[in-house]
Amino acid sequence: MVINGPNLNLLGVREPEIYGKETLDGINNELKAYAEKRGADIEFFQSNHEGEIVDKIHDCLNKVNIIIINAGAFSHYSIAIRDALKAVNIPVIEVHLSNIYKREDFRHKSVISDIAVGGIYGFGSLSYKLALEAALDFLKI
Ligand code: DQA
Repeated sequence: MVINGPNLNLLGVREPEIYGKETLDGINNELKAYAEKRGADIEFFQSNHEGEIVDKIHDCLNKVNIIIINAGAFSHYSIAIRDALKAVNIPVIEVHLSNIYKREDFRHKSVISDIAVGGIYGFGSLSYKLALEAALDFLKI
């Protein structure tokens, strides 16, 4: 399951100098094609609402083997999303398009990193592909 948080629906339009020109649909289509080639099922979810993301994480229970998440700004402060990820106890890979450590101080902290298997940040849309590769490796697919 690939989960994207707030404002990531605007990829391609939103601050392209930071986040690149690719749309979220474009990224997801590439991930889908690659996952299918490797024989893995992949699903996508995006929401601008914290509670909807929490609900989606709960839905993953007993259905999903790994979660790739770019929680956007929620990464920096949503204890609810962190708690949901811990509650379902599904392995997590954290993704950011930008290098959050090279940006404003408030982006340097992620409340997800320490409960994730690992994280990938700073490579634009490639961050998602690297995360998918890491997920497939983790699941031994
Ligand atoms: C982001 C980084 C966050 O700080 C920001 O709020 C985002 C996108 C990234 O992918 O680089 O919405 O998660």
